[in-house]
Amino acid sequence: MSDTNEAPAAAQDYPADLMDKLVSLCKRRGFIFQSSEIYGGVGAVYDYGPLGVELKQNVRAAWWEEMVHRRDDVEGVDAGILMHPDVWVASGHVEGFTDPLVECRNCHRRFREDLLESDQCPSCGMKGQFTEARQFNLMFKTFMGAVEDSTAVVYLRPETAQGIFVNFRNVLDSSRQKIPFGIAQVGKAFRNEITPGNFTFRTREFEQMEMQFFVEPGTDEAWFETWRDRRVAWVKSLGIREDRLRLHPHGPDELAHYAKDAVDLEYLLPFGWKEFEGIHNRTDFDLMAHQAKSGKKLEYVEAHSGKRFVPYVIETSIGLDRLVLVLLANAYYEEEVEGESRVVLRLHPKLAPIKAAVFPLVKKDGMPELAREIEEDLRRSMTVFYDESGSIGRRYRRQDEAGTPFCITVDGQTVEDGTVTVRDRDTLEQVRVPAGELRTYLQERLAGADS
Ligand code: GAP
Repeated sequence: MSDTNEAPAAAQDYPADLMDKLVSLCKRRGFIFQSSEIYGGVGAVYDYGPLGVELKQNVRAAWWEEMVHRRDDVEGVDAGILMHPDVWVASGHVEGFTDPLVECRNCHRRFREDLLESDQCPSCGMKGQFTEARQFNLMFKTFMGAVEDSTAVVYLRPETAQGIFVNFRNVLDSSRQKIPFGIAQVGKAFRNEITPGNFTFRTREFEQMEMQFFVEPGTDEAWFETWRDRRVAWVKSLGIREDRLRLHPHGPDELAHYAKDAVDLEYLLPFGWKEFEGIHNRTDFDLMAHQAKSGKKLEYVEAHSGKRFVPYVIETSIGLDRLVLVLLANAYYEEEVEGESRVVLRLHPKLAPIKAAVFPLVKKDGMPELAREIEEDLRRSMTVFYDESGSIGRRYRRQDEAGTPFCITVDGQTVEDGTVTVRDRDTLEQVRVPAGELRTYLQERLAGADS
């Protein structure tokens, strides 16, 4: 949960004011909006618009494919957000999921003490006005049922991991898995963060993609390394720039209450090196705690030897919204093309919200009709956008900003010989392809980008 506050490395080559530009692009193009904006917004909650929801869905699907579908040793679950309140007692969250909160006596703004750089209030500038720190629990509480008293308190889960731990036995008994194996889950998590900020980096409602890998004690350290390496390879496969990626192993004073070892994957965002994924060796902390609190055995019995043990757990935990922000910062470029400037999102084609845009060069001579036919055909296999308004150059720019990898233009030659131009977002190269072969051609190009 902690961030390093180191200054960005000199190698950083972001355009000036990138965060402002990203926030503006996200709103203008329908990636991300402030929640409840017409009411003035609600703090640190964001809504995804038409392009954002596609991007997020593609990232979620890529993670699920990597972690579940391509593996025979990981199963998926989808647990409820509301869980028995004892889950959070056993996990240590009721007692220990806190941040130190201080208040400025002058302006009454509240801050996380561990994120303050000095005794000067970042809001009003007064020095030495902070109150003593008190521990503030980050879990959102609500009530279950008709009575609003302390016996009815339930929590909105602050992590998805516990939904996996409490289902360990169910999955073991209903699947054919043997140790070592994992359980993966994607879902919403909620934290009443004291100092949210930096757009969607730290929010109060967010989505996590977590996997708990259950192993025999003694093999945990090797598995920790295996999962660390797999996770690094995966984020690189999405096109994450290596010069903005680093590993941050936790020192003993940084470890969460449940962890024996931990390493963060960090990305150099415009506001510094920041964690976007954590890999933890959680030992048998959680299963032991749930076993003790629930009274239900959560051990594993090895079939051939009869040996019994409570497994150790290697966890990989990545924030979906935070990864989307990292991918947007990673993809954003400003360039000069033929004397004109363009903003381009070089998103990995498999993550791009729209795969292909179809344009008739002009709104006559049968071109719109042909372009509509092509659009309809492509829609059977990919997300497509049809655009006939404005100059062709402006239409290209609009798609560059949305990260669309291919733009298809129907022109005079199409009417004559049935070929269209396909323009590549990154190389700007244009090739002519017979319209009848276009869908297969694009599918092959998209698959090629993913191999
Ligand atoms: N189950 C372990 C766990 O929850 P964490 O380091 O607290 O560990 C894991 O969170 C990931 O969840 C982080 O690396 C980050 O990507 C994401 N995350 C955590 N708090 C967040 C917040 N307030 N807003 C957005 N993402 C958050």
